[in-house]
Amino acid sequence: MLELSSNTRVTELQDQSPAMLDALMATGIFRDGDDPETTIAELCWGFGLNPIIILRTLARAQAKEAPSDIDVSDLDDLTLTQVVENIESLHHLYLRETLPVIGELVDRVASVHSASDERLIEIQKLFGKMAEDLENHMLHEEEALFPMVRDMESEGAIKPTRCGDAVGGPITCMENDHELMQAELKKLHQLADDYAIPEHACMTYRNMLEQLSRFSQNMVVHIHKEDKVLFPGAIKAQAALREKS
Ligand SMILES: [Fe+2]
Ligand SMILES: [Fe+2]
Repeated sequence: MLELSSNTRVTELQDQSPAMLDALMATGIFRDGDDPETTIAELCWGFGLNPIIILRTLARAQAKEAPSDIDVSDLDDLTLTQVVENIESLHHLYLRETLPVIGELVDRVASVHSASDERLIEIQKLFGKMAEDLENHMLHEEEALFPMVRDMESEGAIKPTRCGDAVGGPITCMENDHELMQAELKKLHQLADDYAIPEHACMTYRNMLEQLSRFSQNMVVHIHKEDKVLFPGAIKAQAALREKS
């Protein structure tokens, strides 16, 4: 694995990490024909950027190259537009239908059982925040990144959205959101004892834990599809379009 630092040269990315090179090119600070012996720090100085920001973007791209045991082979032969449709139908729709239902269950269980288990109040607060953040996050994807992806495949160009006309901007926001969500999912897991059902649990309590467990599994796959398939695919597609023009 490449040891990444501000002294890393672009040529090292070219040799060892296609994903990091793609991510660097998506930022626009390095283009075909530029000197590959330039370091990340030198590139950033030229654009008045703090190298830490670019290094974080590159580190994320590097993490995406790591193997994972989440199976998304159902996306293998799909176009990017079809990947977007898959995400909308299996994950965004699921969340819109399920978040209010789980929210109600969490509220009911907290109101009945929190006197004997204070963690239920923490679960209620955390889930409420996640549900609100997720609605904003999905809207952001549906109003910015997803139309850009569809445009690239149907029109061969990106129509400007509220996030500009390049996929790198919304993708950076989405990746930041995903990192936060992964930390929150981990916290939810801990608070709910890995969703193990206690013996004393009533039907509502049991239902809440089962639904939270399903929510968590769905989110893991959802984030994986976006981080590992859709985002790198969109960055590559945009690079290919720029090369043509
Ligand atoms: Fe999404
Ligand atoms: Fe997302």
